[in-house]
Amino acid sequence: MFQTSDWKAASDCEQLDLFSIPFLRGQFKEIDLEDVKQDCRDLVAEAKKEHHNDFSKNYTTYFDEHLRYKMVQLPWYKEFSEQVKDTYIQFINTCYSQEVSHLNRSDLHLFAWISVYNEPHQHTSHNHINSYMSGTWYVKVDEEESQPIKFENPNRAMAHALNLPVNEWGRQDIPSAKFIGGANYHDEIEFYPNEGQFLMWPSPIMHSVPPVINAPDGYERIAISFNLHHPVDVHNQNESGDDLEYGFLGSNIQDETIPEIPPAIQEEIQEQVKSGEHLKISHDVPQSHTKPKGVLF
Ligand SMILES: [Fe+2]
Repeated sequence: MFQTSDWKAASDCEQLDLFSIPFLRGQFKEIDLEDVKQDCRDLVAEAKKEHHNDFSKNYTTYFDEHLRYKMVQLPWYKEFSEQVKDTYIQFINTCYSQEVSHLNRSDLHLFAWISVYNEPHQHTSHNHINSYMSGTWYVKVDEEESQPIKFENPNRAMAHALNLPVNEWGRQDIPSAKFIGGANYHDEIEFYPNEGQFLMWPSPIMHSVPPVINAPDGYERIAISFNLHHPVDVHNQNESGDDLEYGFLGSNIQDETIPEIPPAIQEEIQEQVKSGEHLKISHDVPQSHTKPKGVLF
């Protein structure tokens, strides 16, 4: 029999949680949420008219520039814009050591859009390009049923290599969040935000909004998402070069063309048609090749 006295694990140890990723969770002040909710519903109602039953587009103003322009004109938008920009500057300065003293508020690039999720809506895993930090302001949340936002560990290969269990954990120091993986190293984190809260995170982090489970009648989740970027103070080392507009290069996105069928194969197909032989397409051959169009949010 082994004895407890055989136990030899080192006793003088401390756990060091290294390589953490700062996120920001907070509240915006002095904005009437009820006004914002109604304006969001009104603008997304217009998006619904434009995109009909396309559930990937009919819940958001992301695809409609004129609706996003209307949002910018709304009375509360100025206050939102100023608060979110100042919060961004504080965050990237404090947590990501970014030099910000050369910037004015008007230098910052803010791109925001509204999403009103009803029962059929969800958003698959994605991240945001051309952006430094991204965020979402939860304007209306049903505390019981509302969809969370799920973030993925950017080091997923490590999580798999460590053969993490798929357990769910809570942490007292980070309320309203579910940690999925091991107790101290997680593969995914779900946030269940309170109404009025916002989250801000580095834009490359992959995230999703899973479908709602047991949605009550009239289910509604209203969010304003945003991307933020700032000019970096890097010297231009080619100031003496002659200027050149690159517009002549045009777009590098080429329309998909349907490849010509070689004559020999055309003849073969005609023979098969003549003979009445049914043309079979094996299941592992894609039926169409469609490129992803643009970048989702
Ligand atoms: Fe997103």
